[in-house]
Amino acid sequence: MKSIAIIGGTGLNRFPDTLSSKAIELSTPYGAPSGKIEKLCLKGGDVYFLARHGQPHCLPPHQINYQANIHALHQLGVTDIIAVNAVGGITSKAPTGHLSIPDQLIDYTWGRAHTYSQQEQDNPMLAVQHIDFSQPFDAELRQALIEQGKALKLSISDSGTYAVTQGPRLETAAEITKYERDGCDLVGMTAMPEAALAKELNIRYASLCLVVNPAAGKADKEITMDDIRAVVDTGIGEVTRLINQTVSQLKSAKN
Ligand code: HPA
Repeated sequence: MKSIAIIGGTGLNRFPDTLSSKAIELSTPYGAPSGKIEKLCLKGGDVYFLARHGQPHCLPPHQINYQANIHALHQLGVTDIIAVNAVGGITSKAPTGHLSIPDQLIDYTWGRAHTYSQQEQDNPMLAVQHIDFSQPFDAELRQALIEQGKALKLSISDSGTYAVTQGPRLETAAEITKYERDGCDLVGMTAMPEAALAKELNIRYASLCLVVNPAAGKADKEITMDDIRAVVDTGIGEVTRLINQTVSQLKSAKN
């Protein structure tokens, strides 16, 4: 049986429509997770939920303790993570308000604690390892999200390359031009090192992106937090509907 965790991003600090919830206290060798972990009972089954920016939303992307978050979910026996990411849209595959399930990423972050690998002979989990990261997102989990998104008739892209930037500032127009030349469709700040840490601990990981603004230089208008908030407020309902439906499907599937 799959054990699913939802990592909530901007706009998803709490999961709505839960039948019940229970807070979970957990410590890790990497410190405390960046948000409270809860076990939620959804209509389709139980999930763990973690708000990566904390509750209330106060941690910027570069200060999130990604190592502790993924380690804590691993301790709980999580097999699959659906990560929710608010992103900017670079190409026509990513209009504002649209959902996207990226299949690739390019990591432009720096200075984040990005691996469990370190010299530590007595703990095999921490031994030197070079994970295969050619497919950073799990194909099966992505497919489940795409199928349910289509069944719900949501406006959703089934592929895309996610540029992961350091933040917290947004990009310059020239940086976005470069990311577009590199082949990126979406730009956000939180998929890395989260995806790589999950892969190191053998947890399947997929990103569910909500496009909340045109990336820098892609509209004739300044990007404002008010505009982003307005898109998040309308889009997050679709995100949670899709998660509910996908959790039901994954929990009922034989594996
Ligand atoms: N750039 C980077 N991260 C983001 C953006 C953006 O335009 N929008 C939401 N997260």
